Amino acid sequence: MKEEHQELFDKCLDVLHKNDKGNHTKPAGGLYPHQWLWDSCFIAIGLRHVDVERAKTEIDTLFKAQWANGMVPHIIFEPDRAYRAERNIWKSWSSPFSPDNRSTSGISQPPMLAEAIWLIGEKLSKTERTQWFKKLLGDLIRHHEWLYNERDPHSEGLVLQIHPYETGLDSTPPWQVQLHEHTKPKWIEMIEWLKIDGLVNMLRRDTRYVPPGQRMTNIDALLYWDIIGRFRRKGWDISKILHRSEFCIEDVTFNSILVRANKRLNQIAKVCRMKIPEHLTDAMRKTEKALETLWDEQSEQFYSRDFITHKLILEPSIGGLLPIYAGTISKVHIAKLHDLLRDHRQYWTNHPVPSVPLTSKFFSDIRYWQGPSWVNTNWLLIDGLRRCGLGERAEELKQRTIETVEKSGVFEYFSPVDGRGLGAPDFSWTAALIIDLLSED
Ligand code: GLC
Repeated sequence: MKEEHQELFDKCLDVLHKNDKGNHTKPAGGLYPHQWLWDSCFIAIGLRHVDVERAKTEIDTLFKAQWANGMVPHIIFEPDRAYRAERNIWKSWSSPFSPDNRSTSGISQPPMLAEAIWLIGEKLSKTERTQWFKKLLGDLIRHHEWLYNERDPHSEGLVLQIHPYETGLDSTPPWQVQLHEHTKPKWIEMIEWLKIDGLVNMLRRDTRYVPPGQRMTNIDALLYWDIIGRFRRKGWDISKILHRSEFCIEDVTFNSILVRANKRLNQIAKVCRMKIPEHLTDAMRKTEKALETLWDEQSEQFYSRDFITHKLILEPSIGGLLPIYAGTISKVHIAKLHDLLRDHRQYWTNHPVPSVPLTSKFFSDIRYWQGPSWVNTNWLLIDGLRRCGLGERAEELKQRTIETVEKSGVFEYFSPVDGRGLGAPDFSWTAALIIDLLSED
C-alpha cells in the first residue's frame, strides 16, 4: 500500500472495528444494527487483508442462518427485545424452512457469497484453502440450487426477485416504475390523499438517523412494507407468492453477479475435486447466454426484465452497466457499455459512477439509489473492467473512488455532483472495499 494512504486505511479499519459484533459486522451504527447478506460478503472481502480468520467467521455466520431450502436470507436479526417489532414485520418463523434459532428476513440479496469465499481462499495456504472450500461447498451448492429451483421457474437461466430489497439497490428506478405502474393498495392511496404520509417517519428507523431527503419516500416505504406483509401472510411459500404475483423482475445486477458467482462456484468445486450436481450445472450453463437477452438493441444497453410480461423495463440505472462484472458478455456489448460509462452527460463525473445516469428523470444527487455513487457498485465495475481488458479505465475509477472517500469520509453513499458524503457515516462496506482497493497497491 502507498504510504500516503495509511491514514485512510487506518480510518477504514477503525470503522470495521467499531461495527464489529464478534461473529459478524453490522453495516452501520444505529441505522443498520443487524447482519445483511451482501454487506457481509463485501466486508469479508476487505477483512481478509487484515484478519483472514475474522473474514471466515463473517461468512460462517451467514451460513448459520441459511434456510433448509437453501436460501441465505438478506437480514439476520439481532435477538435483542428492542428489535421485536422489526422481526415481526417478517415473521420468518412462519416458514417451515427458516432456522429454529435465528429470526431472519424472508428474501435474499445478490449472490456475492461465492466471490467472497474464493477471495478469502486466496489469502490462505493451499491446504487451508482446500479445507475452507470443502467446509462450505455443500452449503454454497444448496444456495445456488435454491436460486434456480425457486427463482427460475421456467428454466430460462435468469433468476427472479420478488422484492426491491432483493436487488440490493432498494429504490432503483426500474423497481420504481414497476411499483408505481400498478394500482396502489387502497390504504396507501388514502394516506397519500390525506397527506399524512409524514406520520410514517415515526415508524421508520432510517429517517431517525439520516435526513428524509436522502432516503426513499414515505409512500415507497409503505409500498415496500405492503409487499412484505403479503408475503408474510403466505408464510413465505414461493408457489403462493408467485401465483398471482403482480411484480417480479429478473434484475440485471442480481443476474450479472450470479454469472460471476457460478464461475466462482465451479472454481471452488474444482479445488475440492468435487462435482457439482448435473442439474445445477445445466441450470448455471444457461445464465451467461440468458444475460445477453437483457440487451436492448435500440438504446444499446442492458435492462432488468419484467418476469410476468417478459418485457425489458427500459429505465436506465447502474444495473445496466453491471454485466461488465459478469465478465462474459460479448466484445461488442463491452465496447458499447464502455462508451456509455465514459459519457460525461450520464455516468462519467469527477466522482465514482452514480447509481442512475445524470440524465434520468429519477436523478437526485442525494437520494439513496436514485443518483448517489456507492462504493460497492463501483468496486464491481472496477473488478469487471479489469477482466474485460479495460484496466486503465478501472484504474481511473479506482483512484476516483479512493479520492472521494478520502475527502468526504467513510459514508454510505456520495453525491456524484460534489462528492459530499451522504446516508450513514462509518459505513462498513465502504470501509472494507476501500481497504481491498488500497491493499492491491
Ligand atoms: C440498504 C441498501 C442495501 C444494504 C442495506 C444494509 O438497504 O440498499 O443494499 O444491504 O442497506 O447496508
